[in-house]
This record gives sequence, structure tokens and C-alpha cells, in this order.
Amino acid sequence: MAAFGTVFMPEMALAKFENGAWSKAEFVSASSLQMHPGAHVLHYSSTCFEGLKAFKHDDGSINIFRMDQNIKRMAQSSRLLNLPKVDGKQLESMILDVVKKYADEVPAPPGSMYIRPTHIGIEPSIGKAAAPSATSLLYVLLSPVGDYFAGGAKPLRLLLADNGMRCAPHMGMIKSGGNYASALGPILEARESANADQILFCPGGDVQETGAANFVLIDGNEIITKQLDSTFLHGVTRSSILTLASDLGMTVSEREISVDELLERAAKPGTEAALSGTAAVLTPVGTLIHEGKERLVGSGEMGATTAKLRSALNKIQWGQAEDTHAWLTKV
Ligand code: COI
Repeated sequence: MAAFGTVFMPEMALAKFENGAWSKAEFVSASSLQMHPGAHVLHYSSTCFEGLKAFKHDDGSINIFRMDQNIKRMAQSSRLLNLPKVDGKQLESMILDVVKKYADEVPAPPGSMYIRPTHIGIEPSIGKAAAPSATSLLYVLLSPVGDYFAGGAKPLRLLLADNGMRCAPHMGMIKSGGNYASALGPILEARESANADQILFCPGGDVQETGAANFVLIDGNEIITKQLDSTFLHGVTRSSILTLASDLGMTVSEREISVDELLERAAKPGTEAALSGTAAVLTPVGTLIHEGKERLVGSGEMGATTAKLRSALNKIQWGQAEDTHAWLTKV
């Protein structure tokens, strides 16, 4: 299968914000986008995006996972970046319409159709470094995908960055391109220097998130992850996994976790760690690299609880278990 996110459906749904109002959405070619080289987004990074998935069930129906939560987060990111206000109802129709158009192209499990709503400020004004873009484009791209990590569910190697910062602290909860740009240098460095798959940002010893997914620690019957604040992304998959953990009778602890506590707990046999995200789903972490030393998390293999939670999530997404939380929307 082609690398994650490199194949696109030929058309996308697009709406323009201009003169204080949104245009009617339309389907346009997804092969190119025209904008002025002085567009606000190209200079001042007025951009945010979302990632959600549509799944094909055995009965042939196409179902989108937690679309309402992604729309809510897109509206929040747009507001925090001072982009034009997103009309949630319009975005919902755009997502449903474009997924319906390409329903036949949605891969069967374990594949899915990755949905990428994107909002960019396009006002041609390089003078607006300290002012919002008055015009914007909102579009919904589709990309059929398999696994995000090349090794599938193979346990990842994570480099702990005690003083690494993914982005400015107040920007962490915004799903904005700039945050991914600022994380890229440390990720490449982690690959180069430690043969790591990802970096876990732990500024001041506070375990936050990796460059592209949230982090959870599983110790016995307890699942531990940082409580929501403005410093990191409020993952929809993170919240789904915590709900499923609670359904399974686990104790859910949303609280600060320090690098010291993480390393101490990881050294115990049976401890597990994983990354959660739309793209990552729930991918096990096998090794933590800290101050030049490699430490296995538990056995270093995918643990039973990670496998159980990943499977519980997949079964709902794939229509193989009851959708008790009403997370799916049929298109
Ligand atoms: C997602 O998990 O959907 C994301 O947006 C992460 C992205 C970098 C692939």
C-alpha cells in the first residue's frame, strides 16, 4: 500500500469565506489550489486542520467516527487562530457529501478513508502580520489509508526529551500546521541520533505528547495520561480510549506524570505504554530512550491491555461491536 496520506480522491468539498459570509460548498479538483503568493496562510501560518476516518462495514455501509468531536475541535482551532468562524453544520454537510461521493473507494478494514478538513486564511496581505485574514478557504480532502506507522502495530521506540517543547505552550491544543512544523526538527533529530520512531515531549520533566499522537501509560488496571490543558492536543482517540478503558473497569487517571515516574513504572514487568491518535489508532511503545539509555516498557512487546483497547476501538469502528456510545455517523 502507498505511504499514509499520499493518495487522494480526485475532488474535494470546498467553501470560501468572503465579505463576512461562507459561500455554498462545491466539489472542486483536489489536484491543485490557486491562491495569491501573498496569501495570509503562506506568511503568517493561519491554518488548522482535522483528521478523522470513515470505515466500511460488512453490510457495505460507510460510517464516520466521532465526526461531531472533530468539527468541534476545528471550530475551536479556527477561533483560537482568529480565522473566520466555522459553520459546524456546513462543515458536517461537506464531510458527509464528499465521503458519500467516494463511498465506493473507502477501503475495507483494516483500511479506512482518512478525512482531512483544512481551514486556511487566504487574504493577499503581507501587511497583516498582526491582523487576521478576512478571507479563508475551508476544504475537505480524502485519502484512503492503511497503517500510519510503517511497522503497523510493532512496538515503537520513543526518545524522551526532558526539555523538549513541541510548540508554544498556549498553542498545544490547537491543531495547527505551525505546531507540526516546530516539532519536526526534534523528531528528525530523534530519528538520527537514537534511531527512534518518535519523540515524547516532556518539558521540565512533564510528560506531554509526541509529535503526532497522545501518550498513555498502562500500569495494571490503571491508565494514566496528562489531564487536558492548553499545552497539548485534546485527542479524540485519546478520549475514546479512556472511555473504553473505563467501560472495561479500568481506573482512568488524568493527571501530571513526570519522566521519573514514567521510567519507574515502565521498568516493572507488565507495564504498557501506547500512542493514541486518529492516524496512530493505539500503537504500542516498546522502548523508551532517555539520557542515552534504552529501557524496555514492561516486556517491550504489545501488552494485553493495549491489544484489548485497540481491538475494542477497532471493533466499534469496523461495525463488529455495538456502538454503545453512538460514536458512528452513517453517511
Ligand atoms: C491524526 O492522527 O489524524 C493526525 O492528525 C496526526 C497527523 C500528523 C497524521
